[in-house]
Amino acid sequence: MSYNPFSLKGKNVLVTGASSGIGRATAIECSRLGAKLIITGRNSERLEETLSLMEDEAHSMVVADLSYSEGLNLLVNALPQLDGVVHSAGVLKRLPLKFVTEENLAELMQINFIIPALLTRHLYKKKILSTDASIVFISSVASSFASLGNIMYMASKGALNSFMKGVALELASSGIRANAIQPGMVKTHLTVLISDSEIEKDIDCYPLGRYGKPEEIACAVVYLLSDATKWMTGTLLTIDGGLTLR
Ligand SMILES: NC(=O)c1ccc[n+]([C@@H]2O[C@H](COP(=O)([O-])OP(=O)(O)OC[C@H]3O[C@@H](n4cnc5c(N)ncnc54)[C@H](OP(=O)(O)O)[C@@H]3O)[C@@H](O)[C@H]2O)c1
Repeated sequence: MSYNPFSLKGKNVLVTGASSGIGRATAIECSRLGAKLIITGRNSERLEETLSLMEDEAHSMVVADLSYSEGLNLLVNALPQLDGVVHSAGVLKRLPLKFVTEENLAELMQINFIIPALLTRHLYKKKILSTDASIVFISSVASSFASLGNIMYMASKGALNSFMKGVALELASSGIRANAIQPGMVKTHLTVLISDSEIEKDIDCYPLGRYGKPEEIACAVVYLLSDATKWMTGTLLTIDGGLTLR
């Protein structure tokens, strides 16, 4: 008999943003630990690729643009009862204050904050979440660690953290848990906007000497989805190679 407190056997888990980066790595790690996954994203080819990298074949995918209510409804209507939800879909937009407009602010807030908030509401209201479900929001150290040009993204992740805490409190009596992970920089599609020279300079700020890998965030998601953290809710888990130590 093998003892594994982090097993996800018997759990149905939804991962948004699973066509790429942290969401993809999360789907793969969860499948290795026995979960049955529903993965979603906009790009069907890359979602298929994620499926092909996952263990076992019992998983499904839903192609949906969650910015629109049609996409959100399509996803929600395709879901079974869920034991875990991972909100990984997100975008990065870097602009100094004087270039911030109502339009680009609304677009960023829509994907990074409003979508996870509305999806959580739908899942709870439609009783899709099991009584001991675990919700994991992928936030960012940017929520409280300022960097130039990052105002809108910082604000979107700050809102997400506060939302997570409110959900954790409100749903605790139902046995549902909510936590967030705050990664430092992880090389994915999201970071292609940042030049190599900027990255090289930035890495010097990381005491552990490098950026993170998607699977290092995915393993923390597994921890939060597993029964090992049944008494953990409302927590912000920082994984940043020591960036915010000083
Ligand atoms: N990478 C980092 O350094 C870092 C650091 C801290 C926090 N994070 C957070 O981690 C999360 C994942 O980021 P990542 O680095 O893995 O980025 P990524 O590789 O660019 O993946 C982003 C994912 O979000 C999906 N997505 C974006 N807009 C969507 C929409 N309107 N509807 C549905 N899906 C949408 C994308 O789907 P399609 O490609 O199919 O459109 C993709 O699967 C984000 O919330 C990000 O803010 C990342």
